[in-house]
Amino acid sequence: MRIKSAKFVISNSEISKCPQSSIPEYAFIGRSNVGKSSLINSLCDNKKLAKTSSRPGKTQLINHFLINENWYLVDLPGYGYARVSKTQKKIFQTFITKYFKYRTQLVNAFLLADIRHGPQPIDLKFMEWLGNNLIPFSIIFTKADKLSSKSIENNINDYKNSMLTSNWEEIPPIFITSAKNKSGNKEVLSYINQLNIDYFDKSSS
Ligand code: GTP
Ligand code: MG
Repeated sequence: MRIKSAKFVISNSEISKCPQSSIPEYAFIGRSNVGKSSLINSLCDNKKLAKTSSRPGKTQLINHFLINENWYLVDLPGYGYARVSKTQKKIFQTFITKYFKYRTQLVNAFLLADIRHGPQPIDLKFMEWLGNNLIPFSIIFTKADKLSSKSIENNINDYKNSMLTSNWEEIPPIFITSAKNKSGNKEVLSYINQLNIDYFDKSSS
């Protein structure tokens, strides 16, 4: 699938104000600075679509981007950023939790993890929460341009092992990407394309 159009629609912290249509959407979640906004820009081939920064804590709201006029990419604030105040963390946590629990048109969450770091307890905890709430998710490793292919392979094996030892029976789909050189974009987009086809098939039957 090619992205022909990508438009910013709305930013907010209340799920009642998110777009009301029932078209499918895909949310990007993960630690602050992991590269969520950068990957959205890379997939859409537009460096200015989502705001990025080398400093963690840039994205602070739920951001909807309408893609090809018939599905949404959703950029969310990151978690795990130590410098965010306790109150702010609580606010993020509340609206992110509500987003995942009540946004019925969410087809899949993409949990982003920096390929350079081993499995982080906060990510494993978030995956467990997604699993407990029956929210389908996949893992996207980011910043692959920063590692050799051998190290990438080793780190992914570590990741898989630690998921299996945290009681996951099945490893979700895994993608390896770089927003810098666009590797992995094709795979992520064709996965979304397939999920969109299934979604529209189901809703028309
Ligand atoms: P928050 O909005 O704070 O949660 O962060 P985020 O996850 O949206 O990260 P963002 O996209 O703003 O990127 C953080 C930093 O990582 C920026 O300096 C990006 O240029 C850099 N970055 C993101 N993706 C990549 C990548 O694939 N390769 C490299 N080398 N740098 C990346
Ligand atoms: Mg961001």
